[in-house]
Amino acid sequence: MRTIEWLPESREVRLIDQRRLPAALEYLTIQTPEQMVEAIRTMAIRGAPALGVAGAFGLALQAARYNRAGGKDLRSLVHAAAVMLVNSRPTAVNLAWGVEQITSLLDEQTHSESELVERIISNAQALAEADVRTNLRLAENGASLIDDGDTIIHHCNTGALAVVDWGTALGAIRFAHEQGKRVHVLVDETRPRLQGSRLTAWECEQYGIPYEIITDNAAGFFLQSGRVHKVFFGADRVAANGDVVNKVGTYMLSLAAHANQVPVVCVFPLSTLDLSIAEGRYIPIEERDAAEVLNLRVDGQAIAPATARALNPAFDLTPHALISAWVTEAGVVRAPFAQNLAQSRYNQKMD
Ligand code: MRU
Repeated sequence: MRTIEWLPESREVRLIDQRRLPAALEYLTIQTPEQMVEAIRTMAIRGAPALGVAGAFGLALQAARYNRAGGKDLRSLVHAAAVMLVNSRPTAVNLAWGVEQITSLLDEQTHSESELVERIISNAQALAEADVRTNLRLAENGASLIDDGDTIIHHCNTGALAVVDWGTALGAIRFAHEQGKRVHVLVDETRPRLQGSRLTAWECEQYGIPYEIITDNAAGFFLQSGRVHKVFFGADRVAANGDVVNKVGTYMLSLAAHANQVPVVCVFPLSTLDLSIAEGRYIPIEERDAAEVLNLRVDGQAIAPATARALNPAFDLTPHALISAWVTEAGVVRAPFAQNLAQSRYNQKMD
C-alpha cells in the first residue's frame, strides 16, 4: 500500500483520502501545490512522515507545471509554494524538513531551468522511496522491544497511512506480528479526529493484527489492571532533550503508563528530530477548529448544546522523563536521550 505516490506519466500525485476511511478506500489526485495545501489542512493526508513527502511532492507539482512563458522565475515560484506548504500545519517538523530537502536544490546554479525541474521531481520521488526504507529499519528496531504475548496500547495512527508505507510505532507492531510474535493491540480511539478507531483499526484489519478499540479515557483503567505490557506511539516533533510532541492524549497516556511502571516507547524517523529546539515547550502546538470536537453525532444527535464552545489542541507535550525508549532508524535510544542518541547515530555511520 502506498499512502502517497508520484504518477510519472501525468506528473500528478495520488494519495489515499484518509477522510473517507474506514468507510471507503478512495484516492485523490493532486495537481497543484494549492490542492496539496488543502489536502494537508483538511487531513486527507496526515501523519508526520507522510506530511514530509507531501511537502516535497507539493514542490514537485509546482516545478512540473512551470511554464517559462508565464514570465515568472522557477526558483521564486518554488519558494512561494514552499512557504505556503510549510504553513499549512505547524507542529510536525517533517513537513518543513521535506520542503527543505527540495528548496536546498534551488541554490544549485549550474542547472538550466528544465534540468532543475527534473531534479526537483526525481529528488521528491527519492524522498518517498527513502521513507519506506527508513520505516522498515524503524519497524525492525521497534519490534526488538516487543515480546511474544505483549498487549500494547497504541495512540493515534502511526501505520502505513501516516507515512509512505509501513509506519513508525504501528510499523514496529506489524513487524513483530510478521515475525510470528503474538501481539495484541488496544487501539486508543484518539478523539477528536478518531485516527485510532478509523485508521489504526482499519490497518490492523489489513494485517490481521488482533486488536480492540478502547476509548482514550479507558487507557488508565487498562494500565492499572496489569494487562498492558507496553505503550507505543509516534511523534510529530522531538526536541533535543527527548521531549516528544505527539497527538493530543499522548501525555495523559504516558503519565498513566509511568505511574504503573509500563514502558513507554516512542518510534520516529530522525527527520522528526528537531535539534534546533532544546526543549519540547518551545514546539508550536496546532490549534484546530472547535467543530472537530463539537460536530460528532451519536445516533444522529448533537453531542453538545448548539451554542457550546470547545478548545481543540491537536498535540501535546510528553516530557522525556516519562519515556522509556526512543526508537529511530539508527537504533534504540535510552535515557539520557541527547547523549545516547549521538552514540546511536555514530554507530549507524560505523555499520
Ligand atoms: O494530526 P495527525 O493525524 O497528523 O497526527 C498524527 C500523529 O500525531 C502521529 O502520531 C505522528 O504523526 C506520528 S505518525 C508516524
